[in-house]
Amino acid sequence: MALTGDYKLISTEDMLQGHAELCIHAYGFVKSMALKCAIELGIPGAIHGYGGGATLDELATIIALPPSRLPRLRRLMRVLTVSGVFSVQHKQPDDSVCDGAVVYGLTSASRLLVSDGETSSGLSRLVSLMVDPNLTAPFSGMSAWFMDDEQPRSFFEMHHSEDLWDMAARDAALSRTIGDGMTDDSRFVVEVLLRDSRARDVFRGVRSMVDVGGGTGAIAKAIATAFPQVECSVLDLPHVAAEAPADGEVRFIAGDMFDYIPPADAVLLKSVMHDWRDDECVKILRRCKEAIPSKEAGGKVIIINMVVGSGMSKGKSTEKEEAQALYDLFLMVFEGGEREELEWKKIFLDAGFSGYNIIPVLGIRSIIEVYP
Ligand SMILES: C[S@@+](CC[C@H](N)C(=O)[O-])C[C@H]1O[C@@H](n2cnc3c(N)ncnc32)[C@H](O)[C@@H]1O
Repeated sequence: MALTGDYKLISTEDMLQGHAELCIHAYGFVKSMALKCAIELGIPGAIHGYGGGATLDELATIIALPPSRLPRLRRLMRVLTVSGVFSVQHKQPDDSVCDGAVVYGLTSASRLLVSDGETSSGLSRLVSLMVDPNLTAPFSGMSAWFMDDEQPRSFFEMHHSEDLWDMAARDAALSRTIGDGMTDDSRFVVEVLLRDSRARDVFRGVRSMVDVGGGTGAIAKAIATAFPQVECSVLDLPHVAAEAPADGEVRFIAGDMFDYIPPADAVLLKSVMHDWRDDECVKILRRCKEAIPSKEAGGKVIIINMVVGSGMSKGKSTEKEEAQALYDLFLMVFEGGEREELEWKKIFLDAGFSGYNIIPVLGIRSIIEVYP
């Protein structure tokens, strides 16, 4: 077949490099699904439980894999090692083809997927939420949604004919998936937060705090434990509050944050604002402002979310940039999104707040204190 004029302008080397890159981009979903599969098979825990390194045969035995699937497991592990989820070591330098001699280990990413079996499941349930088919399937309709502004507000609604929160109120399994995933995320955030004195300072002097859209109350409970002077409560939708554990550690209140937020010194909004459009965030913040005392009396809103472009100085900033960009587009599925500092500032001012302070101590996320 004759080449088109366009191809003639590209060197063979660039054509082949471009082809390889397109394969990587187009098959990005294969990486997601391989990660989901590894979590469901229990591979991170198997490697951890085997002392941090296991061969293919050892892995297969630990996860009780049917022997006929062993060659497929090798292919799964190859994707997960080239993408950096697991490490791979050859027992002998020239033994790259002998699977028995290959030892798979954990990386900084997969170490976070190991459960301690008691208080923490790592981030595996969060990753399962991120790749839940209810959230990934609507992406197939993204271009149609872009080109037709008569469509519902989000491509999630276009696909499912209802919004995420209505669907979760009706579908107990989805509600549990969201609750479990966000509980993992909150435990992770609290762990990092409590290690940093600037982050701990945010809660000093606070006597009462309401965690709005606080889900299962994981973060409120951790704050109540770390700062016993803070009386913590959680406000969430009725179907979430109804499932709340009755252990009495924090008070759960069923309600709608767009209508009313109970009074407290501080209102916490973790991973909530990025679910909503700017005008909706302004409404939520106005309700927050009604709930808290003046700045002089210690009133504040504490937001935990991304400030796009913030916190990039440490670590591999290109990975953080990519993570922020991916997260932002992911949230567009239900018309949410991440914000840059100026976008946050406009929302705060529109809601009648006087100032804010960004504390970039959570990697790709930050803590933002907002003052009335
Ligand atoms: C992404 S989750 C975040 C949960 C929790 N803050 C965390 O980070 O673990 C968003 C939460 O907002 C709650 N939510 C959604 N709409 C709400 C509303 N109108 N009023 C109160 N909570 C709401 C959801 O039920 C869910 O628990």
